[in-house]
Amino acid sequence: MKRARAMHIRQPAGLDHLEPGEVDVGSPGPDEILVRLHAASLNFRDDLVVRGVFPAKDGLIPLSDGAGEVVEVGSAVSGFAVGDAVVSTFHPNWRDGHVERAELNNSPGGPADGYACEFATRSVSHFTRAPAGYTHAESATLTCAGVTAWRAVVTDGQVRPGETVLVLGTGGVSLFALQFAKAAGATVIATSSSREKLDRLQELGADHVINYRENPNWGAAVLELTGGLGADHVIEVGGPHTLPQSLVAARTGGHIAIIGAAAGFDIDTMPFAIVQAKRLRLQAVTVGSRRDQLDMVRAIEAHGIRPVIDRSFPLEKLPDAFDYLKTGQHFGKVVIAI
Ligand SMILES: NC(=O)c1ccc[n+]([C@@H]2O[C@H](COP(=O)([O-])OP(=O)(O)OC[C@H]3O[C@@H](n4cnc5c(N)ncnc54)[C@H](OP(=O)(O)O)[C@@H]3O)[C@@H](O)[C@H]2O)c1
Repeated sequence: MKRARAMHIRQPAGLDHLEPGEVDVGSPGPDEILVRLHAASLNFRDDLVVRGVFPAKDGLIPLSDGAGEVVEVGSAVSGFAVGDAVVSTFHPNWRDGHVERAELNNSPGGPADGYACEFATRSVSHFTRAPAGYTHAESATLTCAGVTAWRAVVTDGQVRPGETVLVLGTGGVSLFALQFAKAAGATVIATSSSREKLDRLQELGADHVINYRENPNWGAAVLELTGGLGADHVIEVGGPHTLPQSLVAARTGGHIAIIGAAAGFDIDTMPFAIVQAKRLRLQAVTVGSRRDQLDMVRAIEAHGIRPVIDRSFPLEKLPDAFDYLKTGQHFGKVVIAI
């Protein structure tokens, strides 16, 4: 048994109750591996957990996304060896295919302990291999944002060459969705709040960009850019405040990936008439399965896709990293070096 550094959420939760501490690290059981975490990344939901919007047990170790190196393997483990670079899975119980919501009950970073720590002993379902040639920081961006985008664009969306994909804003999910959609041969329209971020979106491969602050009717702008047809797929991360424009932007029979509420979730309404009239297909996403993650890793290697990392903070500066995320200045992922 060894001791390792970790960050803990003390209740009542809040950034000033995000405290350093230590945890016991056990040797792996037969189907477990011991991982030395080298990096983690922040997601919108981690922010809700550390600020107490989502309930958490006292002492919870936050952060769903971790990457590192296997340092010990259990006696019955196959598929992992000491020295392997690995990345955590968001739903350790979801291997493939259909899963009941009730089974998705042990996500790291809440309700289960996450990866704001130096070492973790977990069953093998908690990790997959990382993409070859990725740094640990790059791998740590994949668990939540990467797999969610993969699920929306590839597993559910089955985006085909020549289709149009609309992505909203420049957070982790949207930038991965842009990259996966371009790799699938799609035309990508992207929105953001500033000229500088729009320029960066174009550098990343966006074919068309729209400033949603200057153009509140951005749905109509998407129709104009697509000759009146609309986008075949909308990667909807904004929530009830952006959904009405997303529905305007969608093509008849189009697919809307219902993912998040980055623009706020203080209202909860569904514009019925346009969904019905356009025969839209709304498919919600809750990250994805281990199979999705493995398929995504393979595609990342085949296409040479690199994640967009905005900034890195050391583990002990985790509260500062969350403060920074809250400013909305980031473009892509904020990572934590461990
Ligand atoms: N269902 C799931 O499985 C799942 C998984 C991951 C994330 N999510 C959810 O998806 C959302 C995005 O997650 P994330 O990790 O990518 O967040 P993030 O990295 O924190 O990015 C949030 C981004 O949202 C954009 N945004 C805010 N208001 C907007 C608006 N009115 N219109 C368009 N864009 C807007 C901003 O982009 P600009 O600065 O460019 O304007 C901001 O950078 C969150 O609500 C999160 O909880 C859900």
